[in-house]
Amino acid sequence: MTRIRAAITGIQGWVPPYILTNKELEAMVDTSDEWIMSRTGIKERHILKGEGLGTSDMAAEAVKALLEKTGTNPDEIGMVICATVTPDMIFPATANIVCDKTGIKNAFGFDMNAACSGLLYALVTASKYVETGTVKKAIVIGADKMSSITDYTSRETCVLFGDAAGAILLEPTTEEVGIMDSIMHSDGSGRFYLHMKAGGSVKPPSYETIDAKEHFVYQEGQPVFKFAVTKMADVAAEIMARNNLKSEDVSYLVPHQANLRIIDATARRMGVGTEQVMINIERYGNTTGGTIPLCLWEWENKLKKGDNIILAAFGGGFTWGSIWLKWAY
Ligand code: ACO
Repeated sequence: MTRIRAAITGIQGWVPPYILTNKELEAMVDTSDEWIMSRTGIKERHILKGEGLGTSDMAAEAVKALLEKTGTNPDEIGMVICATVTPDMIFPATANIVCDKTGIKNAFGFDMNAACSGLLYALVTASKYVETGTVKKAIVIGADKMSSITDYTSRETCVLFGDAAGAILLEPTTEEVGIMDSIMHSDGSGRFYLHMKAGGSVKPPSYETIDAKEHFVYQEGQPVFKFAVTKMADVAAEIMARNNLKSEDVSYLVPHQANLRIIDATARRMGVGTEQVMINIERYGNTTGGTIPLCLWEWENKLKKGDNIILAAFGGGFTWGSIWLKWAY
């Protein structure tokens, strides 16, 4: 029997026009362009401005452009998963709102909360529906308005994050392309180092939680860094080893963009050179669900059918994982 795989057949990113530079941050908190660049590799990030705009608005822009560039009728889409930690509302799911804003009427969908690994979790989940023939066309979105949960008086976190959305079209194929293998992990004990303290069922919003600034990202940078740097490199090396992929077989590593030093460590561990790594952290910062689709979108014109691509991510949860895919067009 011919094996059906799920292949990426279109990719689209979207970033809001406003750019927040390191220079501007220097005027807001006690930081410097030199510190931010040397510790993170980030120069600027895009921020969504405007009353009443949220993650679904960025995602809808990406989805509309994706449908148009791939010549896809919204009625053909059977599934939409939105990877995000900044949903428009706690419920309903942002995926539902995006469908409404883009004219997608025949899809079911939901949000995927796996922080910076959310896009990988969502891609793997959607691929199973496509591989089994349950869904013919799926859209996987990675989108976050990180500025909505960032404390712009805290230099530890406000320099790191940006806002963006990306959308991926997945379709079945019988060719030897598409998603070939994946390894996903989670370790909930990591929640102590990276989380949002209030707003959930344990600590609902109150005047006290607002005064204590508990609705923002809380991160203990160093322990997260130590986990991220080993786990992301380990999982990327593991997926190469179990598929007998040598560094020269890999066309591109597409790492989650949280910190240039973590990306460099992963690339070193895989034995791939800088020309084989997609890096755009300098211009966007950490956009959580958005980083991997933004990379694929920017590199799309350079990709060739059959290219071996390794996606790798680490994020809050902790969650981490890697996907090996062969580019399909
Ligand atoms: N400007 C200037 N100084 C700063 C800044 C800043 N923006 N931020 C922190 N510092 C200071 C600290 O106060 C500290 O000063 P001290 O030595 O006097 O106490 C010093 O710089 C060093 O701080 P560290 O936190 O040790 O800096 P580090 O080198 O670890 O870099 C960073 C911090 C960039 C956050 C790093 O730890 C990191 O990248 N961690 C991992 C992030 C990650 O991968 N997260 C997962 C994904 S995010 C998600 O899932 C939502």
